Amino acid sequence: MPNDNSTLLPSVRSFLSSPRQMLIDGEWVDAKDGRTFATVNPSTEEVLVDVAQGSAFDVDRAVAAARAAFEEPSPWSRMTPRERSHLLWRIGDLIEAHADEFAQLEALDNGKRVTAARDGDVAVAAELFRYFAGWATKMEGTTIPMSVPGRAFHAYTRREPVGVVAAIVPWNFPLLMACFKIVPAITAGNTVVLKPAEQTPLSALRLGELLLEAGLPAGVVNVVPGYGDTGAALVEHPGVDKVAFTGSTEVGKKIAAAASGNLKKVSLELGGKAPNIVFADADLDAAVAGAVLGGYFNEGQCCVNGSRLYVQRAVFEQVVEGVAAAARAIKVGDGFDASSDMGPLVSQEQHEKVLSYIRGAVDQGAVLNAGSADAARERGYFVTPTLITSVTEAMAVQTDEIFGPVVTAVPFDTEDEVVAAANNTVYGLAAGVWSRDLGTAHRVGARLRAGTVWLNTWHADDVTLPRGGFKQSGWGRELGSFGLDDYTELKTVIAELR
Ligand code: NAI
Ligand code: MG
Repeated sequence: MPNDNSTLLPSVRSFLSSPRQMLIDGEWVDAKDGRTFATVNPSTEEVLVDVAQGSAFDVDRAVAAARAAFEEPSPWSRMTPRERSHLLWRIGDLIEAHADEFAQLEALDNGKRVTAARDGDVAVAAELFRYFAGWATKMEGTTIPMSVPGRAFHAYTRREPVGVVAAIVPWNFPLLMACFKIVPAITAGNTVVLKPAEQTPLSALRLGELLLEAGLPAGVVNVVPGYGDTGAALVEHPGVDKVAFTGSTEVGKKIAAAASGNLKKVSLELGGKAPNIVFADADLDAAVAGAVLGGYFNEGQCCVNGSRLYVQRAVFEQVVEGVAAAARAIKVGDGFDASSDMGPLVSQEQHEKVLSYIRGAVDQGAVLNAGSADAARERGYFVTPTLITSVTEAMAVQTDEIFGPVVTAVPFDTEDEVVAAANNTVYGLAAGVWSRDLGTAHRVGARLRAGTVWLNTWHADDVTLPRGGFKQSGWGRELGSFGLDDYTELKTVIAELR
């Protein structure tokens, strides 16, 4: 079914029927200066709804609310770990109860398929709350012996919240990226000002409503939509103790510089250009399927996208033909159409950017084994899944993060040669190896400079696993048992026993 209003849930229709306000101190308010911006459906290029646009003034109010909610004797500061745990679990249940609604909002705002949003983004978001609900009561310290002759001490560590966290997130998994920051932050007792991406503010605003419904005290999570300047106002704000950012490496560098004013803590999840290495002894059917998933999942808009395929020469043609055939079979269409395999890109800007990379590669003599440098449809930001060969390592299509359904394939002969090529990038987020030889897979995996290495799989994931980047792919790790470290300060307490 095409996307018309009849397919929308009544709750979604009602959510889109009036301008959306921002959440500050438990209240839904307009921007002080009354400004709004439009959010657009990338399948139809039509405006969905207008959204309040936060200025530095609104950011200031939100930070003040987050500070007041953090400091004693606020209700939040007095909540016990068990109470926080139960609250987190309740929010997970509420998200699950509203899964279809979130999936529709995500599909409308981002373009992704409704089913992909429901079974992926929304399901994982709910699970994140439940996983971290367990951690809230398990943030333990250690007792540490001291050796001072003739005196007795009791020394121990405590994990304490950092304070006010500014969470700035992108548009590729809007709800999920917001939850990646909010969930560990509040598990540890911090408070948050969230700045969703300007392309996709809706699911974060709906989440704000559910947080209040679940009983999260006012000011603990504030949601201030806007563009980069709204994010920049947060990053510069002296009342913010930590910035948690996911987005481009370019903006990540700006954030690191801007945060230096009060030396706020910074964690960064940035871009990638993941190498995906197929050895001739691999299970080639699995490797082809993995290359297709790695290259085209979420319209290729993943920081861990397997964008650089390296294939050992003996099987190069076979693998290229397999991936190209699968790419050609992908049906591009509206995310509300059950027969679509892939939706549009998120925005006109991304559409132009991705197509210009494909065009640039063709102009430089590269070959399109699948796909096209032309828009896939007249209307909407659709791109045909593309596989490019005859590329050199110096071409932009091979060095830059494209963030679209574009994969390059390059042949290689030896392990040393492919490891050098794979690591020849400023990024280090993800990498993959396909081989039936356990020694080859683990040895090459260890040589790849990346925060996540997949062996004979791609996009396999769990909220229990840490993720993050080497090199210019970022600072810090999110999720898993390491995921709370960046949201806590470690305090050492030394008592003399007299
Ligand atoms: P971006 O990095 O500009 O935007 C991400 C978030 O940062 C948004 O919420 C944006 O409003 C905010 N922001 C922008 N400038 C800021 C500033 N100076 N201070 C604070 N916050 C700021 O990413 P954009 O422009 O949407 O996409 C450009 C490219 O970035 C993509 O083509 C892709 O290559 C990469 N990207 C990577 C992502 C990842 O997950 N690693 C996610 C999104 C984009
Ligand atoms: Mg930008």
